[in-house]
Amino acid sequence: MPPSVFEQPGAGILKGATVWLTGLPSSGKSTIARILERQFRKWNLKVELLDGDVVRTHLSKGLGFSKEDRDINIKRIGFVCHLLTRNGVIALASAVSPYRETRDANRRLIGNFVEVYVKASAAACEKRDVKGLYQKARAGEISGFTGVNDPYEEPLKPEIICDTEKESAEQSAGKIIQRLEELGYLTLGAKAKA
Ligand code: ADX
Repeated sequence: MPPSVFEQPGAGILKGATVWLTGLPSSGKSTIARILERQFRKWNLKVELLDGDVVRTHLSKGLGFSKEDRDINIKRIGFVCHLLTRNGVIALASAVSPYRETRDANRRLIGNFVEVYVKASAAACEKRDVKGLYQKARAGEISGFTGVNDPYEEPLKPEIICDTEKESAEQSAGKIIQRLEELGYLTLGAKAKA
């Protein structure tokens, strides 16, 4: 068994990148993103986390959940990720981002784009219902809720799939770090310089 990536004493960024976590509400995106953020900070790497829920209280305040508003939200997050990435930062984006074309537009803009499909069935996500919103959607209190009565377009060729019904959030985060190394964005090991 290779040592866990989390036990690596150091790591360095070889080139900036955006790690884009997409998936249904309650699929586990934010949990995985926070583990990545904590680990990268531990290694003293330049990292920034843009979480849909948080962004919607600042940069995207006032936007709703129509296709148009979601696209504006995702393009704003993408633009910030683009700026960070070109300055050698690892940008972590965690947003439902249900539309394939909008994610692909960000891929084209950013270039160093690592799409992570945080995968869990709608039934499993609804069972978790971390924020109680599936229940509200079922009760008719929220309309157009992704996974209930609004679409989610799965990525066709994501760099990584994290099946959160089968793997823990730590395993998913570890997989992502390993893949970032394989793709030439990170170097891991004692000699790596942040
Ligand atoms: S996105 O579609 O524009 O990418 P984003 O990730 O920013 O969505 O926000 C999704 C979060 O907003 C969910 O995690 C949930 O907490 C909340 N939310 C409120 N209404 C909806 C809705 N109709 N569909 C999806 N998420 C919603």
